[in-house]
Amino acid sequence: MIRRASLSDLATVVHWRLRLVAELRDVSIDSLGTSFRDATHAWLDAALASGTYFVWLAETSSEFVGVAAVAPLRRPPRPEHPLGYEGYVVDMLVPEAHRRGGIGSALLSRVETDCRALGMTRLWLHTTPAGRPLYERHGFGVNEGALEKVL
Ligand SMILES: CC(C)(COP(=O)(O)OP(=O)(O)OC[C@H]1O[C@@H](n2cnc3c(N)ncnc32)[C@H](O)[C@@H]1OP(=O)(O)O)[C@@H](O)C(=O)NCCC(=O)NCCS
Repeated sequence: MIRRASLSDLATVVHWRLRLVAELRDVSIDSLGTSFRDATHAWLDAALASGTYFVWLAETSSEFVGVAAVAPLRRPPRPEHPLGYEGYVVDMLVPEAHRRGGIGSALLSRVETDCRALGMTRLWLHTTPAGRPLYERHGFGVNEGALEKVL
């Protein structure tokens, strides 16, 4: 089952956010440090409470099997995106034991459906090599015009 997370899921959402960051950096959760853990907890607490960050949890009757999260972004309207409402896919994680069974794809389909229903007209993201085939199969393409600068 896939469902939208609420504030009562804070501990789960924090845990799996830390697990994803640790996995992508190939380090242990403990090595991320307590100040990062506390900052993540405080940020997600405020974001879930205010409804300004959307998280989906995939679960069986007994365990967590995946998470996805979207940070909404409001931009001025453009002709092809008249609402100016977009989403940045921040997190997609399926625990290793459950990968390659279609959970990631099901999560992404649900994210797309719900974000469309919320009025978003575009999703974007940065991917890992593991995530790229999944996103491409779902129709995500490279945006050659995107540039970034770390401030
Ligand atoms: C990326 C990630 C979320 C994908 O989750 P997943 O549940 O494995 O995704 P799916 O099962 O839907 O699809 C993954 C692969 O399994 C295959 N697959 C799907 N159902 C299958 C089945 N029943 N039997 C065998 N393979 C299957 C898909 O074809 C796909 O293959 P491909 O990647 O070679 O094209 C997961 O690998 C992950 O958490 N990776 C680490 C974190 C990460 O990189 N996240 C993305 C950051 S943005």
